[in-house]
Amino acid sequence: AAGNHDSHAGSDFVVVANRLPVDLERLPDGTTRWKRSPGGLVTALEPILRANNGAWVGWAGVADAESGVIVEDGLTLHSVRLSTEDIADYYEGFSNATLWPLYHDVIVRPEYRREWWNSYVEINRRFAEETAKAAAEGATVWIQDYQLQLVPKMLRMLRPDLTIGFFLHIPFPPIELFMQLPWRTEIVEGLLGADLIGFHLPGGAQNFLYLARRLAGAQTSRGNIGIRSKLGVVQVGFRSVRVGAFPISIESGRLDQQSRSKAIRDRAKALRKELGNPKKILLGVDRLDYTKGIDVRLEAVHELLAEGRMDPKDTVMVQLATPSRERVDSYVHMRGEIERTVSRINGEYAEVGRPVVHYIHRPVPRDELIAFFVAADVMLVTPLRDGMNLVAKEYIACRSDLGGALVLSEFTGAAAELRQSFQCNPHDLEDVKDKIQAAIEVPREDGRKRMRALRRQVLTHDVDRWARSFLETLANTGAAGRALIAP
Ligand code: ADP
Ligand code: G6P
Repeated sequence: AAGNHDSHAGSDFVVVANRLPVDLERLPDGTTRWKRSPGGLVTALEPILRANNGAWVGWAGVADAESGVIVEDGLTLHSVRLSTEDIADYYEGFSNATLWPLYHDVIVRPEYRREWWNSYVEINRRFAEETAKAAAEGATVWIQDYQLQLVPKMLRMLRPDLTIGFFLHIPFPPIELFMQLPWRTEIVEGLLGADLIGFHLPGGAQNFLYLARRLAGAQTSRGNIGIRSKLGVVQVGFRSVRVGAFPISIESGRLDQQSRSKAIRDRAKALRKELGNPKKILLGVDRLDYTKGIDVRLEAVHELLAEGRMDPKDTVMVQLATPSRERVDSYVHMRGEIERTVSRINGEYAEVGRPVVHYIHRPVPRDELIAFFVAADVMLVTPLRDGMNLVAKEYIACRSDLGGALVLSEFTGAAAELRQSFQCNPHDLEDVKDKIQAAIEVPREDGRKRMRALRRQVLTHDVDRWARSFLETLANTGAAGRALIAP
């Protein structure tokens, strides 16, 4: 199988992700165009691919898009075709109704269906085969996220010459929850096909080490895993698989620059005016997902209004919510709940022409989003569970004026780094309300001090540093790792 490729063709660096960085959009007149894909994974990886002249293997976001190689906006894209049924079983089913809720603390009950699993295996094989075709002899391949956890092992079997990295963009769950999965051993063994497995936090990496011992019967290191340091090691036959924590970030410098532009400043002022020049603007920016705690922040605002702790005459909330996974039942249900709550708050507290909650269920263009970040006095990031949360970091990068305050759930990966935010437990509504109120009322000097510290963290830890630390670790030989193994 190793000879199954032309050793001169292919790319030296290949990113593999469920989605391409752009989605193919079919317009009503039958023509197509590309538009940026949703979510943090694409936000993080696009700049790295551009800088490295690599290729990207992924799905174009619509059913039955032709497979093949496309060069779009300077990126080499290998499109993997998914049929309507593949999308229902592999993407909406196993990826987003089994793995997504399981890895996010079972906020919604995961469904375990054998036909979904079979499709997950089949589609992971399809991605592995496409990648085997796209990669040059000895190339580095970087596989992304929970949709493709079997690809490392499948690809290693097809192409033992490759260096294979894997990064999980969502939380790796507590052991007790992972053990629910009927296919838990296959998933762990699939991941162990990589040379380096990355997680956002040391806790997730440590959970994985334990499961590698328990489910794959592997020998592993026992020491604590650090951040970008002190890797764990799993011995798989003669191979050493390294396991580490690499918290992801954003293009902080670029965002900082963009947010300082006159056009953005003017737009931010105009937005404030369009919102009626309120004293305080509260902002939420998310994919419409039950993990994000959009319901939590709406409930908190509702109660603050009801208790007279927030004045509807001088406070507005804006919730930007990109449509996401709209055919998955739990998403349909959650959308209904959120829209009812928005209506209830406005029904009780709005005046004609002056809503208290502005709700936009459409993706917002990047420049407009930056202007919202600049305009917002309080950013509300209240997930029940989130691997990292890039929105929190984007907000900070946009506040060179040292204005604004961040309310941040403890249950995000970002909370470990953004210590000077107003951190709250999203399961404790009184705490969320207190932190929102504290953020609204923070004295100017205290607010500036916090923002200065947050910006120091975000500007020195950008996405480039994340990618470099992962890829440099991946490039190093396994020899250093082997020394750490307990006999
Ligand atoms: P996730 O990866 O779960 O979607 P993140 O917060 O890590 O969550 O990343 C979300 C990305 O999508 C960010 O880059 C954010 O700016 C972008 N985004 C989220 N909501 C919107 C929206 N309503 N309009 C435009 N972009 C959005
Ligand atoms: C999160 C996941 C990504 C995913 C993104 C958007 O960021 O970690 O893998 O691409 O959400 O979700 P979608 O299902 O639209 O790809």
